[in-house]
Amino acid sequence: MPVILGLIAEAAAWLADKGTDQWSKPWPDERQRDGRVRRGIRDKCTWMVEDDGRPIATISCRPRGNPKLWTDTESAELAVYVSRLIVCRDYGGQAIGNELFDWAGKWAAAQYGARWIRIDVWTTNAMLHEYYEKRGFSFIRECHYVDCPSAMLFQKPTAAITDADVPRLLEIPTLAAPKSRRPSLTRAIRERSPARQLAGVAAIRIAARLLLTHQDRGSSARR
Ligand SMILES: CC(C)(COP(=O)(O)OP(=O)(O)OC[C@H]1O[C@@H](n2cnc3c(N)ncnc32)[C@H](O)[C@@H]1OP(=O)(O)O)[C@@H](O)C(=O)NCCC(=O)NCCS
Repeated sequence: MPVILGLIAEAAAWLADKGTDQWSKPWPDERQRDGRVRRGIRDKCTWMVEDDGRPIATISCRPRGNPKLWTDTESAELAVYVSRLIVCRDYGGQAIGNELFDWAGKWAAAQYGARWIRIDVWTTNAMLHEYYEKRGFSFIRECHYVDCPSAMLFQKPTAAITDADVPRLLEIPTLAAPKSRRPSLTRAIRERSPARQLAGVAAIRIAARLLLTHQDRGSSARR
């Protein structure tokens, strides 16, 4: 949790110099912003990228989007909803953030048939909208009816992602899948005592770790 809050603080300080109000203060306040970060970790939706032991990026991936933003029709489609995507500034310019959402899309497609990577983006930050559009996302719409500063919706088809788009993040995650796609409990698990069934669920893990490998260091600024 402190590492993720540190990445947010570093990004916020960097953004302040870019002429955007994105993340200029926690929304709607620090307590609720921290609560979202904590829930991502608790729900095992938050991933960290480490380079040689140093945490350098994070992403959260959920099988469901915010129902205040995404319509019922959209929510009926299988998708991975990414949020809190941050790359530490020392690692900017290497397309690590780009690879991270492609990694999420690649594995969500493989594991539960996700057709889309979806993201809600800071409404007033046109530079960031352009970032996503240049990387294969399409603008869906702005949600005018919500009290939320990230109300510009974008999506990218997972079908467009190839292994070549994910050259460094080689680990295979177990992404949270929509309830309809979760395998039913196997007999072995059903027959465990209730205490044993709960043991794995009750433990709160720190965010799962991904390692950045350097197969292509030197040629990593791909886009
Ligand atoms: C968005 C992000 C994850 C992309 O990571 P990446 O694919 O590795 O790309 P880079 O960090 O090299 O950034 C690529 C370009 O986008 C620009 N950019 C990135 N985030 C931006 C933002 N929030 N606002 C404006 N421009 C941004 C960078 O300045 C850079 O521009 P340049 O090519 O002219 O130098 C990363 O830049 C980041 O952590 N940004 C700050 C936090 C953020 O906005 N997260 C997204 C929330 S939806």
